[in-house]
Amino acid sequence: MSESLDKLNKDVCTNEQADENYLIEVRNLKEYFDVNTGFFTTTKLKAVDDISFRIKEGETLGLVGESGCGKTTAGRTLLHLYKPTSGEILYRGKPIKSKKEIREFRTNATMVFQDPYSSLNPRMTVADIIGEPLDVHKIYATKKERNDRIAELMGFVGLSSEHASRYAHEFSGGQRQRIGIARALAVNPEFIVCDEPVSALDVSIQAQVINMFDDLQKRLNLTYLFIAHDLLVVRYISDNIAVMYLGKIVEIGTADEVCDNPLHPYSRSLLSAVPAPDPKTARSNKRIVLEGDIPSPLKAPSGCTFRTRCRYATDICAQSCPSLELQPNGSYVACHNLEEVLRDSSDVNSAAYHEYSNAKNGYGDAKNALDEELDKLKKSQNNNAEV
Ligand SMILES: Nc1ncnc2c1ncn2[C@@H]1O[C@H](COP(=O)(O)OP(=O)(O)OP(=O)(O)O)[C@@H](O)[C@H]1O
Ligand code: SF4
Ligand SMILES: [Mg+2]
Repeated sequence: MSESLDKLNKDVCTNEQADENYLIEVRNLKEYFDVNTGFFTTTKLKAVDDISFRIKEGETLGLVGESGCGKTTAGRTLLHLYKPTSGEILYRGKPIKSKKEIREFRTNATMVFQDPYSSLNPRMTVADIIGEPLDVHKIYATKKERNDRIAELMGFVGLSSEHASRYAHEFSGGQRQRIGIARALAVNPEFIVCDEPVSALDVSIQAQVINMFDDLQKRLNLTYLFIAHDLLVVRYISDNIAVMYLGKIVEIGTADEVCDNPLHPYSRSLLSAVPAPDPKTARSNKRIVLEGDIPSPLKAPSGCTFRTRCRYATDICAQSCPSLELQPNGSYVACHNLEEVLRDSSDVNSAAYHEYSNAKNGYGDAKNALDEELDKLKKSQNNNAEV
């Protein structure tokens, strides 16, 4: 099979039939909030607006975007902490709808929160914080079993048993986040939404906690939706990355492609803001500064919501919302003018464009060859039927 067609099959979007190889599938998920905007008037705030993705068991999807683009809402809606306005959430290929299904799903899926200071009750001991989900879901027979499980969970996250009787406020930010992670692991989940779990931590501690997430994933075969606004953090831990802007996914692909070869103008501006470790690369990288602020989701622009900050915007961008299309590098990108964006050599070197355009031609050739084969097959079937 040609490389391009092979990529066609590595579909990270959900436009195919339900597939049990994917632990989590999200299909056309929408979460609209009614917001009071005057006397007796409410307006729909489209926090999450028609997003689709899927995550294989044991893998991580990174979700990045500016503050307010809908990352937390997407994670919470996916866990049914908010009732979805519309769309489907599938777990192991089966839709989660009824109360019973949601209850069962909650024992397999959980969340680690951004702020380890406010998410832990300061009046509870570490043992009680970690043991709380065990009590709620009644997943132990004896007190000894409960205590053994708490000790095991503390060991998973590198806390010693003598910490068990201490209170959360006695710990540093990194240690509190470890307590939060141990609590999330208590129900023995398969899937964890990690909502900016390292953003509130010092840079020196961030790496330790991320390494711990990585290590736990390998040991316990966990699947993550890892939310962050820092592309470097997300890249390290993710297999695939989705870039969100104003409630929509504008690009989704493998972590390497999205970070090394971002295609959507918004992804490229996000990436240009990441400092390059190599000074030579840093000099040649041009920072793309977006003009204006992210618009309010209450007054999202028509068509492509990025158009008010995009220098490649044309009339069509105001008229219709671009859908995610498969690109030759395997990423899906939502942009009407992608060819023009990539031809622009002022913020991407022209070699990248040629690579893209050659690959695109190759992809086109491979697809044409496949179409021809299918035509031939249909004709021979028709002939056989006539005989
Ligand atoms: N319960 C709610 N009711 C009304 N609006 C909400 C609610 N929760 C979130 N929003 C709005 O939805 C939009 C998306 O918010 P969300 O918290 O999901 O963004 P985010 O990408 O997680 O941002 P951050 O990076 O700051 O955490 C924002 O405009 C926010 O004000
Ligand atoms: S669709 Fe138009 S406005 Fe949106 S990213 Fe592409 S060029 Fe920019
Ligand atoms: Mg958030």
